[in-house]
Amino acid sequence: MQIFKKQKDLNLFLESEREKSNFIALVPTMGGLHDGHLSLVAKAKNLAEIVVVSIFVNPTQFARGEDFDDYPNTFENDKFLLESKKIDVLFIPSKEEIYPHGTESDYKVGAIGQILCGAFRPSHFDGVAQVVKRFFEIVKPNYAVFGEKDFQQLLIIKSLVKNLHLDIKIDSMPTQREHDGLAMSTRNQYLSDIDRERAPHFYSVLIATRDLILGGKAISEAREMATNSLSKSFEVEYFDVLNANNLTQIETKTSEIIIISAIRFGGTRLIDNLVFRRKNV
Ligand code: PAF
Repeated sequence: MQIFKKQKDLNLFLESEREKSNFIALVPTMGGLHDGHLSLVAKAKNLAEIVVVSIFVNPTQFARGEDFDDYPNTFENDKFLLESKKIDVLFIPSKEEIYPHGTESDYKVGAIGQILCGAFRPSHFDGVAQVVKRFFEIVKPNYAVFGEKDFQQLLIIKSLVKNLHLDIKIDSMPTQREHDGLAMSTRNQYLSDIDRERAPHFYSVLIATRDLILGGKAISEAREMATNSLSKSFEVEYFDVLNANNLTQIETKTSEIIIISAIRFGGTRLIDNLVFRRKNV
C-alpha cells in the first residue's frame, strides 16, 4: 500500500495507472475504520483495479460545538486494516492540501440538505458536498463507494454527481451491524457501557415500525408509536417514514420506503435507517 499526503504525488501514480487502462475506485473516510468501512473497501476492490482510501477529518462538515476536535483518531489501526485488505493507496492530505484557497464553497446542496440531519446540522451537508467534490477533483475516480447508513449523504452525493455532470459512478453498501443490531459507527466509541447496552433498542424500534407498516398500520400511527417508544430511552431528533428515492413524503403509489431517524443520549448522537418495499403498490 502506498501512502500519499500530496495531491501531486497521488496524481503521478494515478496517471500511470490510467495509462494502463486501470479503473480507480475511491472510498472517502474520516478514519476510525470499522467493518462498515471495510465493506466499502471490499466493494471498491470488486469495481476497480486500483482502490484509493482517503482519511481526512473534514472541518467544514462540523459545526462549532460538534466533535471535530475529539473525532476518533485510530490511524495506526486504520493503516493496519487497509494494508491487510491490500488496498493500493491511502491518501491522507492536510487541510492545506484539500483547501489551498480557504474553505469557502461555491456548491450548495439545497433543500435536501436542510431536512432530517440537515435541520439539526444546518451547514453539515454543504461541508460534506464540498469535501467530496474536492476528492473527486483530485482523484478523478471512475467509482466512489459510500455507506447506506448515511443515507441522506448518499442521496446528496448522487445528486452532486448528477448536477455537476461528473463521470463517476456512485455505489453503496448496506449498513453493517453489531451482533445486537446496532449500526456500526465510529461514534459508537463514545458510548458508555450502559449506553452501549441501551443502544440496540434504536434499531429494534426501526424493525418494529417496518413490521407494523407492512402489517397495515397507518404510517402516522406507526411513527407516533415509534417516537413514543424511543423517547422513553433517548432524545429523538427526528423519526420519519419517507420515500426512499428522494426523502419526500410517501404517496399512495410509493413502494420504496425508508424509516430514518437520529437520536441523542449520553452525549452521543446516533443515526440509523431501514429501507423496505411495500408490496402491491
Ligand atoms: O461519511 C463520511 O465519513 C464523511 O462524511 C465523508 C463522506 C468521508 C466526507 O468527509
